[in-house]
Amino acid sequence: METRTGVSKSYRAKSVEEQQDAYDSWATQYEADLCAMGYRILGMIAATFIRHVPPETSPILDAGCGGGIQSEPLKMLGYEEIVGIDLSDGMLEVARSKNIYSELHQATLGETLDFPDNYFGAIISAGTITPKHAPPHSFDELIRVAKTGAPIVFSMRDDALQEPEYPAIISKLEIEEKWEFAFKSSSFHSMPYGEPEITHRIHVYKVR
Ligand SMILES: C[S@@+](CC[C@H](N)C(=O)[O-])C[C@H]1O[C@@H](n2cnc3c(N)ncnc32)[C@H](O)[C@@H]1O
Repeated sequence: METRTGVSKSYRAKSVEEQQDAYDSWATQYEADLCAMGYRILGMIAATFIRHVPPETSPILDAGCGGGIQSEPLKMLGYEEIVGIDLSDGMLEVARSKNIYSELHQATLGETLDFPDNYFGAIISAGTITPKHAPPHSFDELIRVAKTGAPIVFSMRDDALQEPEYPAIISKLEIEEKWEFAFKSSSFHSMPYGEPEITHRIHVYKVR
């Protein structure tokens, strides 16, 4: 199936460079393909975000923003000053064309981020902290750049092929009192018409 090609390529990437290439070449078609697959993280994460993040919260970090499809509803609902970061210049170019971000930067989750401590009032991350993409320890830097009490709203796979290091980091950070639990959605099929075997949940943790 054609729409699965980009997904497969991104999941086959063996390095950050290969991942960057996969998304650079998929960028202009990515959102059309995801929508054709019935992409549900978009609606689920926006609904969860508006329940947990007051509208005056600023600035907001969109970590792994891609083309920006998950920040479009936030901007339409009145959130201002959304800063997007992503590995792929191609995806950032799509995001830039929408004029919804106050800043867009090329950055790699899992490495040091070029933002001060205690800076963001909330963080959203959709479809990015996931195998072959951003590693589990990406949360360390997201916690550092978030203000105390800031909600981090993120999707995470919970199907049988999820790598155990991802759910493990959630409880590790809770035990270490780096963040506290606020919300977990039920499990849902995130791309039912393209990758029906993949399921996700949306999580919210508040930085301590
Ligand atoms: C599945 S897409 C999700 C994009 C967007 N958030 C969405 O929901 O449509 C994954 C995104 O993560 C980016 N990405 C992959 N690994 C990354 C990393 N280590 N650091 C930053 N971005 C990364 C890719 O370039 C791509 O834009």
